[in-house]
Amino acid sequence: MLLAALGSGWGDTPARAAGEPEPLWAYGFSTPPAPGDKAVPQSPPSRALRPNEDPVEQTRLRRVAGSSAMYSRVDIRDLGNVIDWFPGDHPPMPQIIAHGSPSLGNAARGCASCHLPTGKGRPENASVAGLPVAYFIRQMEDFRDGLRVSSDPRKPNTPMMMLLAKAMTAAEMRTAADYFGAMKWTPWTRVVETDLVPKTRIEGNLFLTLSSARTEPIAGRIIETPEDPEQSEVLRNPRSGFVAYVPVGSIKRGEHLVTTGGMSVVEGKIVPGKTVACGTCHGPDLMGLADVPGIAGRSPSYLVRQMYDLQQGKRRGASSPLMQPVVANLTGEDFVAIAAYVTSLAPSLPAK
Ligand code: HEC
Ligand code: HEC
Repeated sequence: MLLAALGSGWGDTPARAAGEPEPLWAYGFSTPPAPGDKAVPQSPPSRALRPNEDPVEQTRLRRVAGSSAMYSRVDIRDLGNVIDWFPGDHPPMPQIIAHGSPSLGNAARGCASCHLPTGKGRPENASVAGLPVAYFIRQMEDFRDGLRVSSDPRKPNTPMMMLLAKAMTAAEMRTAADYFGAMKWTPWTRVVETDLVPKTRIEGNLFLTLSSARTEPIAGRIIETPEDPEQSEVLRNPRSGFVAYVPVGSIKRGEHLVTTGGMSVVEGKIVPGKTVACGTCHGPDLMGLADVPGIAGRSPSYLVRQMYDLQQGKRRGASSPLMQPVVANLTGEDFVAIAAYVTSLAPSLPAK
């Protein structure tokens, strides 16, 4: 039954992996979806004042350290005119990046509203800086053609990504791919092994800490959260990164899976592992090779979500079969270990 549900192209995928429970934290939820659950559509960008918030607070101009720009909350929330604290940190933003596709009229959103002007992205969307242009365009086409959907029917921004891709011309896709593709990927997420994590709440599919004290068992999850919620959430400062709490021992376990595929030697004989070493395709430093995307140092929530989506057959683009033998036998615990290691590969951010 489970095998049949996966559709074609899955060969001898074991039922256990097919029945692997959704890693809810990677999707920004704490409870499993109920039958019939759907994503709540995201409202179009708006500069209207919010009636439930103090008008003075919404229009007061803010600053961030190191920038001469000033923006209010109204400016920061205007997804059709993306704010730019540090224009010197990236090439000039083309129309599609700052304002979105004109074909969408008032509903247009700049790519940078979610992925940030630097392409660093956030755990609930994706890091797009430094992706190979051919890979980038293939993903846009997959979103457009319904070949890339989310395993969690409630996740609202994947359908939005699909809607934006459907509205784009080939030239706009190319412009966006060239813009983000020209950027180098640099560290963005600090990885910390720990048994205990801060208590969190989830807002917009993102984990936000309720206090800095680590008091809650990590319970096999990865908790990825802004280093500074005010800078990330309120001000959308693209220089303020993320921290990922991962279970103790996961980095080492992940290293073994990533570098050898989980191979072992039993009584002098090599026993192949449950997966395939990643460097062959993603490059020896996992920074990408030809049209295979880089994965080193990227958001672990994103990485786990993609591995799970690939395993569940939710990413069905032309190159996705290459990933099927990789993910077929992986468990939730393996996903966590692999992501902990892969994200940790980038050098740590400077101490604050
Ligand atoms: C509403 C937020 C939002 C906006 C605006 C947005 N994206 Fe995305 N994008 C996402 C999400 C969410 C994902 C990851 C989907 C998932 O995890 O299921 C994504 C993924 C991607 C990916 C795949 C990255 C990878 O590594 O495979 C590309 C490429 C991309 N977006 C390009 C764009 C471009 C170009 C634009 C502007 C036209 C854009 N996005 C605007 C939310 C957004
Ligand atoms: C046989 C080649 C191959 C191997 C081995 C391989 N990958 Fe991939 N991987 C790919 C290709 C090709 C894609 C892009 C798929 C697409 O275009 O949809 C990909 C995509 C991914 C993605 C999604 C990236 C994104 O930006 O959305 C992740 C995560 C990933 N691989 C992780 C891994 C890990 C971890 C390993 C090792 C355990 C691994 N891969 C081994 C070929 C490979």
